[in-house]
Amino acid sequence: MSLKNTKTWSRVLVPVLLLCCVSYYYSHFFLQSVSRNAQLFLKLEDFFWRRYLSTSALPYGVKGSELFLMKALAAMASYDMPETIKHLPCKTCMVVGNGFAIKNTSLGSAINKYDIVIRLNDAPVRGYEDDVGNKTTMRLFYPESASYNPSIHNDPDTLMVLVPFKQQDVRWLKEILYNEKRIRKGFWKPPPEIWLGKTSHIRILDPYFLQQTASRLLRLPLNTPPKTNQIPTHPTTGILAIYVALNYCDVIHIAGFGYPESEDLKHPIHYYGYDTMKSMKNSYHNLSHEVKALKRLEDSGAVVYLHPHS
Ligand SMILES: *[C@@H]1O[C@H](CO)[C@@H](O)[C@H](O)[C@H]1NC(C)=O
Ligand SMILES: *[C@@H]1O[C@H](CO)[C@@H](O)[C@H](O)[C@H]1NC(C)=O
Ligand SMILES: *[C@@H]1O[C@H](CO)[C@@H](O)[C@H](O)[C@H]1NC(C)=O
Repeated sequence: MSLKNTKTWSRVLVPVLLLCCVSYYYSHFFLQSVSRNAQLFLKLEDFFWRRYLSTSALPYGVKGSELFLMKALAAMASYDMPETIKHLPCKTCMVVGNGFAIKNTSLGSAINKYDIVIRLNDAPVRGYEDDVGNKTTMRLFYPESASYNPSIHNDPDTLMVLVPFKQQDVRWLKEILYNEKRIRKGFWKPPPEIWLGKTSHIRILDPYFLQQTASRLLRLPLNTPPKTNQIPTHPTTGILAIYVALNYCDVIHIAGFGYPESEDLKHPIHYYGYDTMKSMKNSYHNLSHEVKALKRLEDSGAVVYLHPHS
């Protein structure tokens, strides 16, 4: 499809948003017996009253990280979505992936029209507004993917949602919140030691969603056999964000997903920066599972791409 067609396509799609709840039934169909869980973030009360029981450790459960979590949650002001969004009868969501495919699509103004725009990791907005828009309702990140000053590429009221993959990630947040000495060990890339996220806008994603993304959506084995050197496979933040949207939103449109068709390892993978396909080798992700899952979601009508893709 040519660029011109892409633009026409986005002009057609925006009015479709008005028909909002129609696609609710599609995503419902996809999730079938899975009931939707609209409480996205961990709450302090979970630990006090209902004794958050978990048989697995992070990233799929909280076992062993309860104390760090409680301390971090105690410093936070809210565990919810903003009231204005919570009470929308029908929520339209846009998940903006970081993929190269979004380059030159001019989707920015279409993206800004959704109730909820979800972005990932340290993906920039400034300088890329024409293609990716500038509205960010929430941004999913982990310490290694955090940029030290979230105000540069987010709105003043963007929710910064920590996706904890390991105990160190929660400890990192606790050290920031209480301004404690930073322990640097246990990260695959040094996380920011100063992080200017606003306490009132920080949330912690319930590990339930990563667990469900891995087991239900990607059908990954949750435990790698012990004593092997196999790197465990975890979902990418992108596919996780789509699973979160399936739980929370009535309409889910996506852009910037998909990987270059070419086998060329030098092909850029993001719409920004210089990472290439090569960097996905030996990562914690198995892209073939994600490509298949996305295809199933698209075929069932649960998610709609805003641009042509391979
Ligand atoms: C995007 O558009 C610019 C300017 O027209 C062009 O130089 C560039 O090659 C395009 N990039 C892609 C990936 O199409
Ligand atoms: C997004 O861009 C528009 C138009 O340039 C501007 O009016 C608006 O304030 C921007 N919003 C954010 C959150 O940066
Ligand atoms: C990804 O998963 C597929 C199917 O389970 C498997 O054949 C392949 O070896 C895996 N790739 C990597 C890099 O682990």
